[in-house]
Amino acid sequence: MTTRSITDRLGGLAFGGDYNPEQWDEAVWKEDDELMRRARVNLATVGVFSWALLEPEEGRYEFGWLDAHIERLHANGVALDLATPTASPPPWFTLAHPDALPVTPEGTRLVHGSRDTYCLAAPAYRRAARRIAAALAERYGDHPALAMWHVHNEYATLCHCDHTAAGFRVWLRARHGSLDALNEAWGTAFWSQRYSSWEQVLPPRATQWHKNPGQAVDFRRYWSDEVIASCCEQRDAIRAHSDRPVTTNLMLPAYQHVDLWAIARELDVVSSDQYPTSPGLGAAADVAVHADRTRSLAGGRPWLLMEQGTNTVYAGDRVLGKEPGEMLRHSLGHIARGSEGALFFQWRQSRAGAETWHSAMVPHAGPESRIFREVTQLGAAVGRLGELAGSTVSASVAVLDDPDAWWALGVDGLPSARLDYHGALLRAHRTLWEAGVGVDFAHPEQELGGYSLVVAPALFLLTDRGAQNLRRYVAGGGTLLVQHATGLVDERLQARPGGWPPKPLREALGVRGEEYRPLAQEELVTLSDGSHGTDWSERVHTEGAQAVVTYTHGMLAEGPALTRHRSGDGQGWYLSTRLDDTAYAALMARLLAEAGVEPEVPGLPAGVEGVVRRAADGRRWTFVLNHTDEAVPLPDPGHDLLTDAVAHELPPGGCVVLRGH
Ligand code: GAL
Repeated sequence: MTTRSITDRLGGLAFGGDYNPEQWDEAVWKEDDELMRRARVNLATVGVFSWALLEPEEGRYEFGWLDAHIERLHANGVALDLATPTASPPPWFTLAHPDALPVTPEGTRLVHGSRDTYCLAAPAYRRAARRIAAALAERYGDHPALAMWHVHNEYATLCHCDHTAAGFRVWLRARHGSLDALNEAWGTAFWSQRYSSWEQVLPPRATQWHKNPGQAVDFRRYWSDEVIASCCEQRDAIRAHSDRPVTTNLMLPAYQHVDLWAIARELDVVSSDQYPTSPGLGAAADVAVHADRTRSLAGGRPWLLMEQGTNTVYAGDRVLGKEPGEMLRHSLGHIARGSEGALFFQWRQSRAGAETWHSAMVPHAGPESRIFREVTQLGAAVGRLGELAGSTVSASVAVLDDPDAWWALGVDGLPSARLDYHGALLRAHRTLWEAGVGVDFAHPEQELGGYSLVVAPALFLLTDRGAQNLRRYVAGGGTLLVQHATGLVDERLQARPGGWPPKPLREALGVRGEEYRPLAQEELVTLSDGSHGTDWSERVHTEGAQAVVTYTHGMLAEGPALTRHRSGDGQGWYLSTRLDDTAYAALMARLLAEAGVEPEVPGLPAGVEGVVRRAADGRRWTFVLNHTDEAVPLPDPGHDLLTDAVAHELPPGGCVVLRGH
């Protein structure tokens, strides 16, 4: 099942958002109907936070109110993305099942009063979640308004309770087989941590000092499997009664304690939520990386932007505003990269409650507002893009992404606090985005042969299989850039004897790392081409590679900082420090040129992005988004779907979707 069954039902791309009618009364519902028609809303996500109304006491369901809203939406031409409400159990659940509440590493048991207050490993929670998912599916599974199912909401919690401890032990037995093997894997010979019975093994709760790294990462893996099992139970309960596609809204990049590759494989349709964390061009880059990552999780197939904000979103110490035009540019940034629509959290801004100040399609000010006017313009724009449904996006560059490597850089006692997994991935993506090339994310163990350039920014943990895969990729003609501190540990978090990276990759790169020299916060190392490195440096030996740039000072002087190596039909590059931005961009430009990778849409100035979607029958659509304040002539004018006219120029902040180019 794919997004096609959704877009076919909607007759085009999806437009709408979370709809929480239980916050309002009849007069507002009437206005909602009228405003949804005006904005051309065709999909509403309903029920995400409705558990307390749907099941006011354990086992007693009240569906009448939901029936009425579904019929109203259906009559108004709005299809349904029906959610299971399991991200927010009601207060009665807490009182009936205190053992199902989450416990922090410090041992504090949380209580209701917010949301997401449950332990995914608690049998009572899992039973209750399956039951309400099945009840909803039984009642609404073949409703003509139903386009898709939305399991839960952004699985993101962690728990350290006794249920979790029990689940962790079962998982560890399956992974390691015996207690001896677990002791060996975790290196418990050190600090007298040896376990002599399974009951002694705990989740990584608060400890006096560093936690055991093997225990910490195994716990992440266990928890991820628990999250996925929980999601699949609901999916299966739904599938027993309904043939509509099932999703859960993912959240990227670092919010969720879950292996996103693994959970995405279990979903009929991959969807995700995106909220920028910086203004201006930074927000556009956030959109691009989010969309490229979600598409990659979907295996390159179309996906769905489930949530974004129309305007203000939480960002650090304030809500972050969107400028006029940004809502359209951000939405098109997602659609350009494979989203089959643009959905929001939420339809109408709450008058009360925890998210009163989160923006919505209908703001507190009402429909006479800039935001609602932009919403209606966006609805019209999305409505003109129906012919794109099912088309895809391809990329010739991949950035490697492995949750194990992320979790490995989250353990205690690392050689530097500046080994930042997501920071390194975002930087690599941003640099490639600024070069205008299409980027996928890929797992280090997956087939990479289709990519001209592969970048490994942060694989501190790298398995032998991954290393062999990368060697194969280079031998087969690929260009590979591996960055500092790669492969220092294996999947057990154990250091590799003899240096890094692991042997097969060393052959592809022609280097061996011997000694790491992490740098202080503001410290710079100067390099022979005038650039500099920060954060980290290494003593590296060439074993066949050519030193392209060397360190110039201190104990590393004359040692290689950047190397290249011809191996088989390809090129392996190794960078042993964190290059300054200009030098990093120049290195990427050089690698792209050598690998023969062109910008997606050549001839665009900085701040203007171009992305192409292609259909299997050869049709193509070129998105050009102008993030600058200047008008920009189009290098290749064409018929713009948004205006249904030939476009020659982009106004400041403007966008086009050109057919057939
Ligand atoms: C999302 C979440 C929504 C809402 C939104 C606010 O992550 O799914 O329920 O809380 O954030 O930004």
